[in-house]
Amino acid sequence: MAKLDEKIGFIGGGNMAFAIGSGLINREFVKTSQVLVSGPNLENLARWRALGIATTDDNYEVLDKADIIFICVKPHILTPMAAQLRSLHSPTLKDKDKLFVSVLAGVKLKTLEEKFSFVEGLKMIRTMPNTPMQIGEGITVYSPGSYVKQQDLEKLHLMLNSLGIAQQVPESMIDPVSGVAGCGPAFVFTIIEALADGGVKQGVPRQMALQFSAQMLLGAAKMVLLTGKHPAVLRDEVCSPGGATIVGVHELEKGNLRSTLINAVEKSSERATELGKK
Ligand SMILES: NC(=O)c1ccc[n+]([C@@H]2O[C@H](COP(=O)([O-])OP(=O)(O)OC[C@H]3O[C@@H](n4cnc5c(N)ncnc54)[C@H](OP(=O)(O)O)[C@@H]3O)[C@@H](O)[C@H]2O)c1
Repeated sequence: MAKLDEKIGFIGGGNMAFAIGSGLINREFVKTSQVLVSGPNLENLARWRALGIATTDDNYEVLDKADIIFICVKPHILTPMAAQLRSLHSPTLKDKDKLFVSVLAGVKLKTLEEKFSFVEGLKMIRTMPNTPMQIGEGITVYSPGSYVKQQDLEKLHLMLNSLGIAQQVPESMIDPVSGVAGCGPAFVFTIIEALADGGVKQGVPRQMALQFSAQMLLGAAKMVLLTGKHPAVLRDEVCSPGGATIVGVHELEKGNLRSTLINAVEKSSERATELGKK
């Protein structure tokens, strides 16, 4: 039995929408019959249909039929997409019951509320999710707009928390979190690949090197989360005096790994802010 009765809509059915939608289906949070997805090219929505989910090339159908509407287009598409919906919409009593959830990097609640001001009593929540939600290991932070009620927040929290961790934060923290959690999976995929390349260079077969690199990262991440120890303490525990690990750690320091990652988070969160202004 589904945990939610509402109809869920996605305007834009790309990677982020699919991570959330397929995650909710996998967790049996909603049934496929409760989901509707729109996008300009039906051929690009085939993976939704493969799950048994209805798709349409009419964004207004999602606005009209869904109770919880995820806005999942790229930031520069927001203005034309919202303008088109505005031109088709006549205010109805259903408006104030609908919940809008934006995943757009950098786009402020104020802007989202302006663009969708044609919806009476607009309930808008700004979020920053990440793609590991697809496998129930995601992170989402969220901030509510003016008319959002406590019960709406609780519903959204339950939904997003079922796909990992969800947490309400002040809106000013969303872009900084984007740099760590929204963009972070791409940084970590690069690290996994590079570690595997190191293994291959030393003679480990490619498949094994990739699997071990990813599993090692998972294990190390779980140690941080489950022991509550600072990563530096855990690292010191692995580095025996004169041993093999401290030699590798020294190489990381020479290559400025920590500084590079700090810069990556900084640049990505700044870019998120920039994208939202366009
Ligand atoms: N990917 C991430 O890790 C991540 C993380 C956090 C937040 N986000 C946010 O998620 C949003 C989507 O990113 P994404 O990575 O999912 O990009 P994406 O895979 O390119 O998805 C964007 C989708 O929007 C569709 N689209 C284009 N014009 C549209 C229109 N007028 N109406 C409805 N749909 C339209 C595209 O369809 P076509 O392909 O057919 O053009 C595409 O399916 C962005 O705002 C991004 O900031 C992404």
